Amino acid sequence: MIEIEAEIAERHSLFQGIFLIRLNAPQIAEIAKPGQFIHLQCGRGMSHILRRPFSIAGKSADGSIEIIFEVVGRGTAYLAKAPIGEALSVIGPLGNGFDSTKFKLVDIIAGGMGFPPLLFLANELADRGVNFNFFIGARTAGRIEFLAKSHLGRKFNLTEPRVATDDGSLGKRGTVLDLYHQSLNQRNKPEAIFACGPKPMLRSLSKLAEEHIINCFVSMEENMACGIGACLSCTCNETYGDKRVCVEGPVFDSGDIRWD
Ligand code: FES
Repeated sequence: MIEIEAEIAERHSLFQGIFLIRLNAPQIAEIAKPGQFIHLQCGRGMSHILRRPFSIAGKSADGSIEIIFEVVGRGTAYLAKAPIGEALSVIGPLGNGFDSTKFKLVDIIAGGMGFPPLLFLANELADRGVNFNFFIGARTAGRIEFLAKSHLGRKFNLTEPRVATDDGSLGKRGTVLDLYHQSLNQRNKPEAIFACGPKPMLRSLSKLAEEHIINCFVSMEENMACGIGACLSCTCNETYGDKRVCVEGPVFDSGDIRWD
């Protein structure tokens, strides 16, 4: 884990309220793995003292890392407007990340704003020549169609038939889980599933994976105060036992989580 000041090198508006930021963070980029996150101070001064966790969506050979976020509060609103060149305090890379090294055929399932860490994973799998299918779901086309045009989606096909939208504006109408369930019944099972998205989706996916006897690993989201295992704010006893999402997670074997 490293703490540095990272300059905002680029910012792009991807869709209404959804942004990509590239940060110059060579020490973090060098060691970051898919599924890990950074804890970022969104601003300067005492009013911005609390950090926010962001999954790493990608890294480049030039020493930069990327995050994709939706504006949901004061911290993300600040990031959406922060000047290019501003240096922000970053701690990272944090958490355990996805361990995909044992598998040769995997499925990736992203729901809602769960796709950023999975883009990083997919690009790494593509670099290693691992076979994977990327299923993605969103409320409407605009929330994901930029991915197909972005460099983050360059190595794999993010188009039909593995896209689902609630309103049917892109891919199949319905949820990504419905789409995935249908596809599972029509082809060979993967060795493992890697997923991130809303908790109800992950809960249902966990059940599906159990029924089909497939390894399933999910990246969980919790509020985090310290991000480094000290405050226990990310530990939910009923769900994770005594595990801290920021240290022992955010990626868990779905069978180890108490979903109800
Ligand atoms: Fe403090 Fe996880 S955020 S222990």
